[in-house]
Amino acid sequence: MKATSNLKVLSNKQLSRRYWHMAMDSSSIDEKIEPGQFFNIQSADNGSYTPLLRRPFSTFRINENSLEFLYKVEGPGTAKLSEYTPGDYINLLGPQGVPFSIKEGTDKILLLGRGVGIATLAALAQKAFNQGIQVYAVLSARSHDDLLAAEALKDYCTEVVHVTEEEQTSGVDNVREIMNNLITFYQIDAAYTCGSRRLSVLLQNIIKERNIDGEVALEEYMACGVGVCYSCVCDVVRNNTVYSVKSCEEGPVFPIDEVVFA
Ligand SMILES: Cc1cc2nc3c(=O)[nH]c(=O)nc-3n(C[C@H](O)[C@H](O)[C@H](O)COP(=O)(O)OP(=O)(O)OC[C@H]3O[C@@H](n4cnc5c(N)ncnc54)[C@H](O)[C@@H]3O)c2cc1C
Ligand code: FES
Repeated sequence: MKATSNLKVLSNKQLSRRYWHMAMDSSSIDEKIEPGQFFNIQSADNGSYTPLLRRPFSTFRINENSLEFLYKVEGPGTAKLSEYTPGDYINLLGPQGVPFSIKEGTDKILLLGRGVGIATLAALAQKAFNQGIQVYAVLSARSHDDLLAAEALKDYCTEVVHVTEEEQTSGVDNVREIMNNLITFYQIDAAYTCGSRRLSVLLQNIIKERNIDGEVALEEYMACGVGVCYSCVCDVVRNNTVYSVKSCEEGPVFPIDEVVFA
């Protein structure tokens, strides 16, 4: 069983209309935290049971003594998160789950993120950059305002391409062309995605055609987050057999060629 920690909130700021950024002091967490892993955050404050369930969030940035999360306010859990102020304490369970992997000898990676999925990929960009790997990214969102939250990713990327619904550039055909051009031009070794089923299917096809490695971080609905409730089950194919697996335990990161996108 993973440990819970009460972490001190260092900052909690609204970045754009729907996106917030929270930093916490993580100096009390001894376990190594890897990109793609998540924490189950209890947004209800002390003594309150609303909302009852913890909510899963992947780390946006992993620093020596602090952890950063980028989150979109959706419902009661994330609305409650946005009320925390510096100096408050918040309870986290984790780090949990299988992280992204970077194979030895990788020189260049490509990220394809949509919406809050960009937050999950940002920590991977940070790690790859620190290992001297060149990072390229295609980021997709509804509007340019939503992409403001992704600005921090620029620090780690050689090139970032933005596509939005607002500018009518986020269609699958356009994204496919951009991805293929980047893969060819920069000789990309591996590609990673999170945040959209449509784009995950696209990446699954691209990696098959281009014969490169690929991983996806799934964002299944989670209730317990610790392997008990089966709410996060997804299907994967291994040795031509379909298995139902719990994405909080066997994921959230999977080799993209394994995943059955329903
Ligand atoms: C492994 C993992 C990592 C995640 N990382 C992040 C992150 O870094 N930043 C972030 O903003 N969000 C992240 N999410 C999604 C986040 O957990 C949900 O947005 C959150 O639980 C919503 O809680 P709520 O009470 O505000 O909304 P709820 O009332 O529970 O839901 C409101 C709406 O939010 C959406 N939603 C709820 N749960 C999920 C989910 N699991 N995945 C996608 N959409 C959901 C649905 O559209 C739903 O209608 C992650 C989810 C998973 C499983
Ligand atoms: S969230 Fe309960 S088993 Fe995965």
